[in-house]
Amino acid sequence: METSLQRKPANPRTTSVPNDLDAFWLPFTPNRAFKRAPRFITRAKDMHYFTPDGRAVLDGLAGLWCTNAGHNRDPIVAAIKREAEELDYAPAFQFAHPKSFELASRVAALAPADLNRVFFCNSGSEAVDTALKIALAYHGVRGESARTRLIGRERGYHGVGFGGISVGGIVNNRKLFGTLLAGVDHLPATYNREHQAFTKGEPEWGAHLADELERIVALHDASTIAAVIVEPMAGSTGVLPPPKGYLQRLRAICDKHGILLIFDEVITGFGRLGHAFAAERYGVTPDLLCFAKGVTSGAVPMGGVIARDSVYEAFMRGPEHVIELFHGYTYSAHPLACAAGLAALDLYRDEGLFERAKKLEPVIAEAAMTLKGVPNVLDVRAVGVAVGIDLASRPGAVGKRAYEVMERAFHDEDLLVRVSGDTLAIAPPLIVTEAQLAEMFEKTARAIRAVA
Ligand SMILES: Cc1ncc(COP(=O)(O)O)c(C=O)c1O
Repeated sequence: METSLQRKPANPRTTSVPNDLDAFWLPFTPNRAFKRAPRFITRAKDMHYFTPDGRAVLDGLAGLWCTNAGHNRDPIVAAIKREAEELDYAPAFQFAHPKSFELASRVAALAPADLNRVFFCNSGSEAVDTALKIALAYHGVRGESARTRLIGRERGYHGVGFGGISVGGIVNNRKLFGTLLAGVDHLPATYNREHQAFTKGEPEWGAHLADELERIVALHDASTIAAVIVEPMAGSTGVLPPPKGYLQRLRAICDKHGILLIFDEVITGFGRLGHAFAAERYGVTPDLLCFAKGVTSGAVPMGGVIARDSVYEAFMRGPEHVIELFHGYTYSAHPLACAAGLAALDLYRDEGLFERAKKLEPVIAEAAMTLKGVPNVLDVRAVGVAVGIDLASRPGAVGKRAYEVMERAFHDEDLLVRVSGDTLAIAPPLIVTEAQLAEMFEKTARAIRAVA
């Protein structure tokens, strides 16, 4: 049988890259610009990606905020290989394999307080939708089914499911996708450049913005509100650390009104802020905690939700042969993901990578702030091993300058950075050295100057 690839002329130069760019519709990518000047990656090791022509590209974003232990680490690779030979797949419903329990216990042990029950899925988006559904159902099984409203936050990113974009607050991710979930409201974003520019760590200004939740409660009444969801540090929108005291205030208001608090820790989980979870850094325990990305150090897709005991227990009622939560995915706790997850957690522990992240925090902040004064840099924010850099937009072309910086960085500086609007993000694997951090910001500065 003739396949479509056979019908297309093969690229004569190499077989290690796709020989036709038409078929693949790239996610969250300007497809036409990419296909005109593709950025291919064919191999990775530790802190570097490698291009088809053999260039080593310094990874400034841990892949996509996920390869926290670095790339192609031997123990993770070996664990995946072993598992693939042993157990390709076990049905996720009504049956289970032992590594799923082992990984759940290990993840729960990393989470603070009574966040002890782990529900697995395959991505951050699924984790968010899972958490929102658990929150709604939790109130339902307790006889408070009127609690249906969900509160997100402006500039929040919670993946791309309908639940996630409904509570999310990034306009381009929402505007073409209909009316979304009904009954959603949003807190204001916590960023204010006038009060917060060039802050290292959590800004002093802005805790009062949590009080907006009281206004929303007054408008809708607490009896209609199921949950509030926030990223403890908003990553995708450009690294916005929470103002000091903000999360504590949100927690207090949620407690006062019987509203569940959900932390979306898809980026902040597994060491990014110097702790297993941001919940620990901030001393605030949510009722549900979403994770993904770093749980396997990006090697196999996996996500999940950690619930407090009280949330789980609320469901454990009724006849024992009846399913308590009608929710799950074919690939929940996939054997390869569990194997990768266990190996990744071993690496984090054995190499002390969360502690390493904490030690690196002042170093990366210092290096990042060297960008102050570089043309078109409006703000630099640094928290944990994450940096957001706001650039001045080109007149009438929002996002173009940062996109050009990203292209320059990749092609001319051998550096991978992330771009979102006119904001650059830098958040390397936690194995990054101090010398590599310095290199990263020197390269970034050069790339920014090059497109000035
Ligand atoms: C906070 C947060 N939630 C959810 C997601 C979605 O994760 P995924 O792309 O794995 O669906 C992301 C992805 O960056 C994220 O940063």
